[in-house]
Amino acid sequence: MDVEKIRQDFPMIRNGTTMQGKPLVYLDNASTTFKPDAVIDAVTDYYTRETANSHRGDYDLCYAMDQMVLNARKTVADFIHCDDTEVVFTSGTTGSLNLVAYGYGAKYLKPEDEILLTEAEHASNVLPWFRVAEMTGCKIRYIPLDEKGRLLPENLRKTITKNTKIVSVAHVTNVLGFVVPAKELAKIAHEFGALFVLDGAQSVPHMKTDVQDIDCDFLAFSGHKMCGPTGVGVLYGKYDLLCKMDPFMTGGGMNAKFDMCGEVGFLEPPLRFEAGTQPLAEIQGLQAAIRYLQGIGMDNIHAHERELKRYAVEALTKTGKVKLYNAESESGILTFNIDGVFAQDAATFLNSRGIACRSGQHCAKILNDFLGTIATVRASFYLYTTKKDIDALAEAVASGGDYLDAYFC
Ligand code: ALA
Repeated sequence: MDVEKIRQDFPMIRNGTTMQGKPLVYLDNASTTFKPDAVIDAVTDYYTRETANSHRGDYDLCYAMDQMVLNARKTVADFIHCDDTEVVFTSGTTGSLNLVAYGYGAKYLKPEDEILLTEAEHASNVLPWFRVAEMTGCKIRYIPLDEKGRLLPENLRKTITKNTKIVSVAHVTNVLGFVVPAKELAKIAHEFGALFVLDGAQSVPHMKTDVQDIDCDFLAFSGHKMCGPTGVGVLYGKYDLLCKMDPFMTGGGMNAKFDMCGEVGFLEPPLRFEAGTQPLAEIQGLQAAIRYLQGIGMDNIHAHERELKRYAVEALTKTGKVKLYNAESESGILTFNIDGVFAQDAATFLNSRGIACRSGQHCAKILNDFLGTIATVRASFYLYTTKKDIDALAEAVASGGDYLDAYFC
């Protein structure tokens, strides 16, 4: 994989400076990613040459949009290995998980039922389930993590009961970056008759994902974390489950008929879940993003990030100034604190050096008790990240002590 060549595909890297005009080192890819020309061109084409609505007109432009959506659905299906009828376009991971929670959970769960989560989940895989629990009276329980923060199959087995109806976990956690053994977890969930929901926000952009091999019931992910546009994402669902679900939103494009008496007939999935005008420019951009990533190869991307992770662990350890929280996890996420420095002060200092890292709780607010800290700094890598970027981070960390005046509490 030729990273220097890849970097030339990204205007944010070619332009390459912070808002203060300093060279930019972008290490916040778990939050969002840069877009290559291919994606920007696909979005621009929609606005400059292809603007039309989908499935609402009998003219060429509109017909072409219908074809684009069909093709994009096939591209996604091929990418995660499912049927195109199982691909629902949503606004992103949050929209996808809310759709499962309300469309399935709120419809079918009863007070005696349980939903299993972990302490490592980010808000989008916690708060929709809290709402479902409020609505149905069902209980939320947590599968314990091991001492490193990993979700082990044996801990699911110890926690799951015959009342568990849903197990919903991140495929890769957004702070610690551990890859969960999804296939084994799905098997255990199914042995107990529970559904297995996988939050793929931090996995699908970074590694090959095969929903049939994993045998998950649902998978959620976002376009903007994988070089695609904001405002679009995907919910994969097994077709029979999608058929049993209620729509979360109703409106145009998802109904077959309705009359004055309130009789409504919904379309079959996936259109049943895509009320209103679909995010067409964004879907076209997402398709371009997937083709771009496929062109580079998901295995190459994953290997590159793992190599960067090892390099970063070594480089930051050498500074002698950091506590690392996830040196062993298998993805391109490194979470740390600089000794004696509050995380947000550290991130502000890094920003002064042109280095963009996220700090705080990273939307995973329950995890901090587990980590025994109130905030951390997170550096997250992607296909265009270089060892030079990591050197810049390590140099800044090494030189930072004298400049920082806030104390870790
Ligand atoms: N969930 C995103 C992150 O981890 C926003 O930064």
